[in-house]
Amino acid sequence: MATEEKTQQQGDGAVATAEQDTLTVTDNRTGERYELEVTDGTIRAMDLRGIKVADDDFGLMAYDPAYTNTASCRSAITYIDGEAGILQHRGYSIEQLCEHSTYLEVAYLLTFGELPTKPQLERWTFDVTHHTFVHEDIKNLFETFRYDAHPMGMLLSGVGALSTFYPEAKHIDDPEERYMAAVRMIAKVPTLAAFAYRHSLGLPYVYPDNDLDYPSNFLSMLFKKTEIRYEADPRLTKALDVLFILHADHEQNCSTAAVRAVGSSQVDPYSAVAAGVAALYGPLHGGANEQVLRMLRRIESPENVPDFLQGVKNREERLMGFGHRVYKNYDPRARIIQQHMEEVFEATEYNPLVEIARELEKRALDDEYFTDRKLYPNVDYYSGIIYEALQIPTDMFTVIFAIPRTSGWVAQWMEGNDDPEQKIARPRQIYTGHRDREYLPIDDREGPEKITGPPARRPKRQRRGA
Ligand code: ACO
Repeated sequence: MATEEKTQQQGDGAVATAEQDTLTVTDNRTGERYELEVTDGTIRAMDLRGIKVADDDFGLMAYDPAYTNTASCRSAITYIDGEAGILQHRGYSIEQLCEHSTYLEVAYLLTFGELPTKPQLERWTFDVTHHTFVHEDIKNLFETFRYDAHPMGMLLSGVGALSTFYPEAKHIDDPEERYMAAVRMIAKVPTLAAFAYRHSLGLPYVYPDNDLDYPSNFLSMLFKKTEIRYEADPRLTKALDVLFILHADHEQNCSTAAVRAVGSSQVDPYSAVAAGVAALYGPLHGGANEQVLRMLRRIESPENVPDFLQGVKNREERLMGFGHRVYKNYDPRARIIQQHMEEVFEATEYNPLVEIARELEKRALDDEYFTDRKLYPNVDYYSGIIYEALQIPTDMFTVIFAIPRTSGWVAQWMEGNDDPEQKIARPRQIYTGHRDREYLPIDDREGPEKITGPPARRPKRQRRGA
């Protein structure tokens, strides 16, 4: 890594060279200069390891909590330009896909890299449709949950449990097993989601109907009562299908990174995807749509919006559904959802929370606090309102997000598996604790009288139900 003449300037820190795709770094601790290769706008973090103050030094590391500036893989699935508000899957814009494709077509595109031909789509649709049933023991498993169990917790367990029903899925390099795992997960997650919902109501589970398309079947499993066939309004199934497309993949977000990291241990894909479900559950990720609805209900009416926004600016509140790690512009998915809202409201009862949401958005986009920080509505801002209009309870919002995201997780898991550079994910740390302490027998230890336990001010966890 010795450095020669070609740098434009020298000084402290790093300087890019004009003619070469390299970066020259001067280590001011030693005066040594190093030349690091730049490929695709990145340097390899491992190249830093050669920068040392002494031969026995471990070498330089990059510190990047939350991976805000670290590319963890190469991927050809999803492209995002956060500044410009662009989202593309396999090169196709999200706008085109939402206008012309079904969710299952997009799931195929994500998983296999190309839009399917007619026969390919027919086969794919047939396979997904005919793998929607789950083993009866999964039903029994779900019956053991408390009546008020959060459906996301149930989904998490259900997806993890699937790995025990398909142990052959651990042959992760067998193309047939991989195909079957992809089909089964995309097919069965809606069934698990609907069973979790019916469980919360104490209603009997509704089995899948192979004569219905993907979104209609899901609505049937949620809402069917005594009728022979559940007939969903086509405007609602279309809106749901578009929502599925919008949520299918979003490159290396928290849950996808979790799937890739867990998958890198070469565990079976069901277990890897279960990790994705767990990550999605969090309120800063997929749980945000649920929080948006709770926030709008708390605001109660458009008149209370200014006070609420003041609370956000005083950092007493967070404006849920706003802001994104990658989009520093209007989230293109939020724009597409808005186009379908009117149609949904035509087919359902008008939801007054929309007025609050619109007022909140208008005022936030007019306020320097938010514009300076490039905080715009993200996909979750409006999706919750549509789900509510579909009479889907708030607890289920994140579960519904997980249904289409399963195809993204599966595609990303497959790509990671095929990547010759993939190794088991194993970040480094900066150790900040004690070193080389003398072990003390218990009788010789001194400390405050107070016994360690929960802090006194912590409110007691409210007991729910029996
Ligand atoms: N409300 C109020 N202030 C916010 C918000 C928000 N929603 N989001 C970011 N900010 C502020 C931060 O306080 C910070 O301000 P400061 O620099 O004065 O301290 C600044 O904007 C930058 O924010 P970060 O927290 O550094 O941004 P980050 O990229 O870490 O967070 C995140 C992104 C987690 C999505 C954040 O915007 C957030 O919490 N949003 C609300 C939750 C949400 O909607 N999540 C869904 C994301 S989309 C998805 O997962 C599908």
